[in-house]
Amino acid sequence: REGTVLVTGGAGYIGSHAVLALLDAGWKVVVVDNLVTGFDWAVDPRATLVVANIADDDKVRAAIRDHGVIAIMHFAGSVVVPESVSDPLKYYRNNTAASRSLIESAVAEGVKHFIFSSTAATYGIPEVVPVREDSPKQPINPYGMSKLMTEIMLKDVAAAHPINYAALRYFNVAGADPQGRSGQSTAGATHLIKIAAEAATGKRGHVSVFGTDFDTPDGTGVRDYIHVSDLAAAHVDALDLLIAKPTENHTMNAGYGRGFSVLQVLDAVDRVTNLTIERKLEGRRAGDPDALVADNSAILAALPWRPKHDDLEGIVKDALAWERKLAERQG
Ligand code: UFG
Repeated sequence: REGTVLVTGGAGYIGSHAVLALLDAGWKVVVVDNLVTGFDWAVDPRATLVVANIADDDKVRAAIRDHGVIAIMHFAGSVVVPESVSDPLKYYRNNTAASRSLIESAVAEGVKHFIFSSTAATYGIPEVVPVREDSPKQPINPYGMSKLMTEIMLKDVAAAHPINYAALRYFNVAGADPQGRSGQSTAGATHLIKIAAEAATGKRGHVSVFGTDFDTPDGTGVRDYIHVSDLAAAHVDALDLLIAKPTENHTMNAGYGRGFSVLQVLDAVDRVTNLTIERKLEGRRAGDPDALVADNSAILAALPWRPKHDDLEGIVKDALAWERKLAERQG
């Protein structure tokens, strides 16, 4: 594989796994990350880390030139949905405006391919589940809107300039590198499997179940949990596709096409740990849909990618193993 891939947010959760997948596939990697939520130790030492904001055009353009970057994988951004409601301008700055700068740097320096971390939050509350890519995009929070706006920019830019793109709309990303090289490390987690892993390692006393009256088989929310290493592998395959088909652009759901309820997830955690983690049944969180599951036929048709880590207990095991490592590291 010729050339270097620039990974923004490569010190973060999903980005650090993409760095591993790219390096393992033989790519050279330069990471641009401001380390606001990421960690320098999360970047594999085989990659070069440039500590910079992705909207710092001079530093980003220098990194592209110095490393011979042919493609950008763009993970950097803010990701906390409730925070996006209370501080929308942070999301339009860190996600939409910063992406605009990054895309401009890419075009100016002749980068040929762009892969973007998008989200199922672009759909809002879907009318039909499993949700297809051509379903209405009606985000119900600024986070989803900030990502949708970036998708729209990419579409227009790819029509005007010699660059193609893939936007991957992630469902519920969970788990950790099965070899234990990375995982979800940011404090103040809001994601169910991370929270359950924290409860299993004694970092918190219980898990709240937000809502028991959803229109689902057991009344709790259903989500499509995808292992972070499968997600990372999908990015590497998407890059190969963009290189092979330089006139094509792809927007694809990244999920397994099957859902688990909150209670099913917590049952899996209990089975894996041999514990009975305390559950507190609570009211719904604002804006949670009943069920959010991917129709993944587009990604299965476009890429050779196939799920390898789609066993729920396996996802939980990997998340737990990383949580234990983190606990040791933090003493
Ligand atoms: N949940 C609990 N207790 C918790 C945490 C979560 O019951 O402590 C429930 C939620 O109500 C939901 C499910 O577990 O039913 C999953 O919640 P997460 O917070 O793990 O994930 P979300 O589905 O809310 O969010 C994900 C991504 C977002 C994205 C969103 C799209 O993390 O980035 O999907 O709707 F915006």
